Amino acid sequence: MNRIIFATGNENKMKEIKEILSDCNLEILSMKEAGIKADVMEDGTTFEENACKKVTEIAKLAPDDMILADDSGLEIDYLNKEPGIYSARYLGEDTSYDIKNQTLLYRLTGVEKERRSARFVCAIAAAVPGSGVFTTRGTIEGYIGWKIAGTNGFGYDPIFYVDDYGCSTAELTMEQKNACSHRGNALRAMKQELMHRGILKVHQAK
Ligand code: IMP
Repeated sequence: MNRIIFATGNENKMKEIKEILSDCNLEILSMKEAGIKADVMEDGTTFEENACKKVTEIAKLAPDDMILADDSGLEIDYLNKEPGIYSARYLGEDTSYDIKNQTLLYRLTGVEKERRSARFVCAIAAAVPGSGVFTTRGTIEGYIGWKIAGTNGFGYDPIFYVDDYGCSTAELTMEQKNACSHRGNALRAMKQELMHRGILKVHQAK
C-alpha cells in the first residue's frame, strides 16, 4: 500500500498528517490532489460514525487506495458535552468563531474552574482495501478559560486552555499544538494501528 488519500480540504491537516507519517514510505494525497470530489453529509451520532461515513463514501470512488478521514470537535462537560459533533455547525455554519466563542464564555459565566473542563476529540477512520474500515481516537484535555486569547490555530482554540502550558491553544505554535493535539494523537494512534495490522510495514517506519 503506497498511497493514502486523506479526505480533507484543510491544508493544515494535510501538513500535520504528512509530518506524522513522514518516516513511512508513502505518498499522501489530499482529495484535490487525488482528483476526487465528494460532499459527504456528517449526519452520524458520534465522531467515529461521521469519520467512517466519509471514508466509506470516498472508498467507493478510489477502491484501490487507502483512505483516511477525521471528524473532530469540542466537548464542554458543563454543557453536557456541547457543541460536540455539532462543533462546526454550532449557532450556524456561517456564524463567526468570535461570536461562537463569546457565546460559550457567556454560557459559562460564574462557573468555577473545576467545572469548566473540556476536551477536543478527534476520530480518524481508515478504509483499507482488503482490511475494511476501522477507527482510532485522540483527545486533548483542557478547560474553557475566561477570555478569548491568542491568534494561532482556528475555531475554538482561543477559549480552550491547557494546564501544561497555562495558555489557550491559540497561543501555542503549530509545532507545540501538533505535538499534543487530539488530531495528532489520533493520527499517531492510527499509525500504530496500521503497523500493528501489518498494513504499514515496520521497516517503513523509523
Ligand atoms: P472538523 O472535524 O474539521 O469538521 O472540525 C469540526 C469543528 O470542530 C471545527 O470546525 C472546529 O469548530 C472544531 N475543532 C476541531 N478541532 C479543533 C481545533 O484543533 N481547534 C479548534 N477548534 C477545533
